[in-house]
Amino acid sequence: MNPTKPTLLVARAMFPDALARLNDYFELELNQEDRIFSPDELTERLQGKFGMICTSSAKINQDLLAKLPELKIISTIAVGYDNFDLQACTQHQVMATNAPDVLNETTADFAWALMMATARRVTEAEHFLRNGEWQKWGVDFFVGADIHGSRLGILGMGRIGQAIARRAAGFGMDVIYHNRSRLSAEQETVAHHARYVDKESLLRESDHLILALPYSPESHHSIAAAELAQMKPSATLINIARGGIVDDVALIAALRNRQIAGAGLDVFENEPRFHPDFLDLKNVVLTPHIASASERTRRAMVNRAITNVIAAVRGEVPPDLLNRDVLEM
Ligand code: GLV
Repeated sequence: MNPTKPTLLVARAMFPDALARLNDYFELELNQEDRIFSPDELTERLQGKFGMICTSSAKINQDLLAKLPELKIISTIAVGYDNFDLQACTQHQVMATNAPDVLNETTADFAWALMMATARRVTEAEHFLRNGEWQKWGVDFFVGADIHGSRLGILGMGRIGQAIARRAAGFGMDVIYHNRSRLSAEQETVAHHARYVDKESLLRESDHLILALPYSPESHHSIAAAELAQMKPSATLINIARGGIVDDVALIAALRNRQIAGAGLDVFENEPRFHPDFLDLKNVVLTPHIASASERTRRAMVNRAITNVIAAVRGEVPPDLLNRDVLEM
């Protein structure tokens, strides 16, 4: 072991050939068996470490940071960083970084995959076929909703929301969106053909509503019973953002009562122990948080996290630093 190199914890299993880039800078502690560490084990493994590369499964809060005076950087391979308490990171002089941009297009692709599968009842029809229930064809057999020519609503018009919107042109969709801040007129008309509306209009007018906003205490249960009640009975709801943005119990009730037609969900409250009642519903397409899971994109996310920790160890500002105020400490 070279005692002059700082040590880095790579908290989850990751592409070994990508991680090789780290060897020039760090002694690595790996977890290639991919166990999920309990908070106590994570604290123990982070003792004396310069930094960590992690995913959304690592909860970084005041309690943990108070026990880690030597830690300098936590670098998630995800774009979402709701598992990081940024204020606590700054207070403990720990840089926090994420991996934006590299997953926008892949995640937008997947939002479309879920929207199309939900509207056209693809997984429900496949289950029917696999169960040996297919006896005859019928005129109203698995009829669903059109994507082309319909109205796409997007809640959260950041980089992923915009990538979703761009795809709508090929399907002749009318795109409306709601976001904390409105896009520039040029972005709205030239790039995305999207119209800004208030949240109530978005809920009332969307045929397919895709959620693409980050999770925060402010966005907790942005879609709950009151919001679902405003949607069209023929509408579909797609969540590729984060569990907790939707009130899952309210959504289950809305799907059961056909208050909306269907939902496509890649994220859930309490992942991976999602609400079991989803399994009893036919009008829902369920996937296990895989929206960014193309090989190329997952590699790009890992590489981005690696670039951030290498910048930190070289005394440079990591390109994706989230808590810039840490530099003034
Ligand atoms: C995945 O959920 C991410 O935030 O990158």
